[in-house]
Amino acid sequence: MQIGMAVRPKLELAGNYWDEMGNGTEPRVHTVMFQNALDEVGATDDFIRENLSVDAMVCGNLSAMLALRKPLIFRAVGSFAVTEFLFPRRCAQLLEAWRRNALSVEGIEYHREHIGIDARHASGFFKNVIIPLVEERPEVAPEISWGALARLNSSQRYLESTLQTLTYGSAR
Ligand SMILES: [Fe+2]
Ligand SMILES: [Fe+2]
Repeated sequence: MQIGMAVRPKLELAGNYWDEMGNGTEPRVHTVMFQNALDEVGATDDFIRENLSVDAMVCGNLSAMLALRKPLIFRAVGSFAVTEFLFPRRCAQLLEAWRRNALSVEGIEYHREHIGIDARHASGFFKNVIIPLVEERPEVAPEISWGALARLNSSQRYLESTLQTLTYGSAR
């Protein structure tokens, strides 16, 4: 998303990306930290392959499609801003369940950290990416809204089908 952006949004996205990279510290890279959480609950690659739902794939594919196609860049901005915005509350709930089940402190580090970091990422997206973009080119606002709504919808469908699966053993 950084490619071709004005300087202020570009810097915000670069800072966000650097956080993802653990600010240069290997054990703090978010994929490494997330893998620790997966390992702690025994979510192996096979388990994920067997249990990956259609709604989960829709969420991932939507993010990838918006980020990889230049003409959809403003939709990507809306979608990723909402992703950052929604995540902290989900992490706080997960943290509670993690403690209730007496799982390890190291395993929850990814989610614990994202309660704060993604709240900052969300406000950074709104202040330094969305506002400057819309001020400069008001015509991109509907594109950004489209992305935000697409993420809200796909996320809602994913969470509802997951709840259904956990409650009744299978999705709809
Ligand atoms: Fe992250
Ligand atoms: Fe983030």
